[in-house]
Amino acid sequence: MNTKLVIANWKMNPQTLREAKRIAGGIKTVASKNRKTQVIVCPSFLHLITLSSVGHKPISYGAQNVFCEKDGSHTGETSLSMLKDAGVSHIILGHSERRAKGETSEDVQKKISLVLKEKLIPILCIGEAERDMEGEYLSVIKNEIKDALKDVSQANVKKIVIAYEPVWAIGKTGEEAITGRDLHEMTLYIRKVLSDLYNQRTAFSVPVLYGGSVTGNNAKDIFSEGEVQGFLVGRASLDAKEFGKIISIVNKA
Ligand code: PGA
Repeated sequence: MNTKLVIANWKMNPQTLREAKRIAGGIKTVASKNRKTQVIVCPSFLHLITLSSVGHKPISYGAQNVFCEKDGSHTGETSLSMLKDAGVSHIILGHSERRAKGETSEDVQKKISLVLKEKLIPILCIGEAERDMEGEYLSVIKNEIKDALKDVSQANVKKIVIAYEPVWAIGKTGEEAITGRDLHEMTLYIRKVLSDLYNQRTAFSVPVLYGGSVTGNNAKDIFSEGEVQGFLVGRASLDAKEFGKIISIVNKA
């Protein structure tokens, strides 16, 4: 739990391998100067293999998804073994953009078990679509955690990273990100849910990250008040300078 994590979710960007290499090179430079923070870059599958063979240490590489079957005839899918062979250490699962395209809780559940079995690290994304006055959004969070961890043992849950990404805060301006105070409430709630499912000690050994319009400008406040172990960053991670600012803020904190 002492490790701080900053993860880049490049989504379907950038459009050329050349650009991907340029950004990764820039991130490597910053990561080298901020060794207390683990930096993981999740590029598209197509760019992943070249980038991870170039190396860019101390950056590690992650994937944005994996198929839920180990092998077989599945046109257009990528297996966990392929990702492992490509040098991937972490896999983002259950991102809201994938859930919106039809990924179910069962899919996420299956993928988590598969990833854990192969000794890679799942980054489980959870997050409510909107916040209502009645607090219904808390049940959304609770159910997403319960569903995803249905088959996960107490020993294995410690190997998972949870990324809290409220859908209403993703892809917005830095001002629309969550406030540190609201995030703190949510991280406490996530730990309570984990504590009810396992126990308090286990709940505090699972790293919780925040994602949703994190920028170099808002990272400090969100990180210091939010009680998170790091960030999952979309847009700002495509700019090595901006992403570098976020890495150094987390590293210094
Ligand atoms: P954003 O994306 O930083 O562009 O809001 C975060 C994410 O979707 O993981």
